Amino acid sequence: MSEHIRTSQAGAVLSITINRPDKKNALTRSIYDSFAAAIRAADQDATVSVICITGAEGAFSSGNDIQDFETHPPTVGGQSGPGGLFAALRSAEKPVVAAVNGMAVGIGTTLLLHCDLVYAAASARFRLPFVGLGLVPEGGATYLLPRLLGIRRASELLFFGDWFDAQRALSWGLVNDVFEDAELLVKVQAQADLLARQPARLLRLTKQLIKQSPNSLEERIDEEIDLIARNIPQPEAREAFLARREKRPPDFGQFET
Ligand code: COA
Repeated sequence: MSEHIRTSQAGAVLSITINRPDKKNALTRSIYDSFAAAIRAADQDATVSVICITGAEGAFSSGNDIQDFETHPPTVGGQSGPGGLFAALRSAEKPVVAAVNGMAVGIGTTLLLHCDLVYAAASARFRLPFVGLGLVPEGGATYLLPRLLGIRRASELLFFGDWFDAQRALSWGLVNDVFEDAELLVKVQAQADLLARQPARLLRLTKQLIKQSPNSLEERIDEEIDLIARNIPQPEAREAFLARREKRPPDFGQFET
């Protein structure tokens, strides 16, 4: 594990912190690999329900380490480096929540496209400078960003590579909410704790449905109906229906994570 990736657990929430503040949390090959390993380990860990990611000391990430572009250029299908990180994020079955506590440049922003929920500090700033660096965007950004923001907005962010702030990120739908800087981590932990109280198996199924494009709307409607019918007799729905009858909050803590 790279010294630049720190993990800590509070309840069922595992936080992964990019910890290379002297370089604004720029990501090297070894940091990517440890980051990916930490996500995979958390996804397998039965005591973890939610994975949070953030950066140390007022920066989220300044992106790929500039020197690393030349010393460790990315390889297609590579399980190491940025490709390995994207693969780990994409295959994570548990919810991944990002707390963007400062600047998020390059992959610092594109990795957010693979998180389920994104919260930003009021002072957070974002930038996708790929074209100006003589490169093209990575991590599926040319596919995901137009779908998330619309083609006009995605093109503007990717063509010019200008900074944009948390309010613009919020109004354009790149982040779920913006919190005061000092409150960000507490608020994100509270959101993650709420998520951890939801039935894990159903969160997982819902995440799968959101991430997998169906062939048609009709196919997806049928798939959902099938899953609902199969889940009505399951313990989570039994508990939810019973709790409703007994006028108490459901307790899903007894079920698998
Ligand atoms: N790769 C390698 N080193 C980086 C880095 C990166 N992506 N981003 C920042 N650093 C280093 C700086 O070189 C500097 O190192 P030094 O103290 O040894 O000179 C240190 O981190 C602090 O950065 P600095 O530029 O002094 O801080 P800042 O707050 O003025 O600006 C950034 C921060 C992130 C805006 C600026 O450093 C920057 O634009 N970095 C490049 C970002 C980038 O293009 N990333 C790749 C995207 S594909």
